[in-house]
Amino acid sequence: MLRGERISLRPVEPEDLPLLESWVNDVDANGVYNDFGLTGRQGMGMEFAQSGFLDDRQGMLLAVLLTGEVIGSLSYRQVAYGPNRGSQAYAIGISLIAAQRGHGYGAEAQRLMAAYLFDTYPIARVEAETDVTNLAEQRSLEKAGFTREGVLRQAQWRAGARHDLALYSKLRGE
Ligand SMILES: CC(C)(COP(=O)(O)OP(=O)(O)OC[C@H]1O[C@@H](n2cnc3c(N)ncnc32)[C@H](O)[C@@H]1OP(=O)(O)O)[C@@H](O)C(=O)NCCC(=O)NCCS
Repeated sequence: MLRGERISLRPVEPEDLPLLESWVNDVDANGVYNDFGLTGRQGMGMEFAQSGFLDDRQGMLLAVLLTGEVIGSLSYRQVAYGPNRGSQAYAIGISLIAAQRGHGYGAEAQRLMAAYLFDTYPIARVEAETDVTNLAEQRSLEKAGFTREGVLRQAQWRAGARHDLALYSKLRGE
């Protein structure tokens, strides 16, 4: 459990699976910026059985309030900028349920996630990408100590159109 001031991050437990499965294909829960088409629910249970969603290559942690209520999930995946281990970094993603957005939890959760990745892996860089129109996520990343690096032009295909992404990063020690 990674404890922040108002929220914590924790691994997925078996009893969380029904809630996570209920969010699959639910645009209200995931947000329009995470709408990448329909996904089968069975994949979630299979992946959990294999890795518990905690793998060096990719994984997921849940954001929970101090009451224990699960308010969203954060993902991480390995990205490589060269063939050696020293060139590896992690990219993170986040989705909070609609009712819990706008309270600063996103910034705290992403700050905790970056700290977890720096503590766990000998990486120098954690990054995040978001649609250039997703101002809430851009502000949330800035509040979490990330720096805007530029725009990945036309990088994402989503909801029938190409989208420019803003690229943010946080370096070890920042
Ligand atoms: C994006 C998300 C993680 C942000 O978390 P959050 O807890 O809602 O955001 P925070 O409260 O930490 O910060 C949001 C900031 O953006 C600001 N903001 C929100 N909407 C905005 C808008 N339309 N224009 C400008 N600023 C905006 C808020 O005022 C706040 O800044 P402030 O604290 O300086 O006032 C959350 O809203 C979410 O899960 N959204 C749906 C999924 C999603 O978009 N995920 C990212 C996909 S890449």
